[in-house]
Amino acid sequence: MRFGGPHPQDRYHEQMSFDVREFRNAMGCFATGITVVTSRSASDEPLGVTVNSFSSVSLDPPLILFSLAHVGGHCQEFLASGYFAVNILTPDQRPLSDRFSMPRDNRFEGIAHDIGENGSPVFQDSLAVFECETFAVHEAGDHAVFICRVTKVHLGEEENALLFHRGQYHKL
Ligand SMILES: Cc1cc2nc3c(=O)[nH]c(=O)nc-3n(C[C@H](O)[C@H](O)[C@H](O)COP(=O)(O)O)c2cc1C
Repeated sequence: MRFGGPHPQDRYHEQMSFDVREFRNAMGCFATGITVVTSRSASDEPLGVTVNSFSSVSLDPPLILFSLAHVGGHCQEFLASGYFAVNILTPDQRPLSDRFSMPRDNRFEGIAHDIGENGSPVFQDSLAVFECETFAVHEAGDHAVFICRVTKVHLGEEENALLFHRGQYHKL
């Protein structure tokens, strides 16, 4: 495996000693929580995507990040919106992770939610929710990395977290 140093972008595949499956399997060893990141479309429809590429970035100012694949339709709509709510899921909210990671026309159909201060859908009983707005976006390969400034924090009552590890859900 080769890390660092300048090399032409179009030759990086030749220099890798691992394939995409190995990379995904190795990344899957890193246990994460699960979030549903929500927003609103230009036509004011609620949007939501299951995301585990969530991380804290900065305390002052309060910044978080998540990354979205360009292939999905949501990335462009999120770039256009600029306002989000990151809902951290409890084990009981596992069905939300399934709903917001699978293709369907109206992901919010029959899903109870409140509207946050910035207009993004907020799921009641989440472990915590971060309402936030775009601070910077970095293009990174086939994903866009959204760095967002947190404008409101909701802290729930539940203590157990929904976890994701090696492609399986777990309860902490
Ligand atoms: C546990 C889990 C974590 C995921 N994390 C991400 C993520 O961090 N970024 C991303 O772009 N997609 C992630 N996905 C996939 C998206 O949820 C899924 O592809 C997306 O909802 C498809 O919507 P779209 O193609 O309409 O944009 C994840 C899926 C699952 C099940």
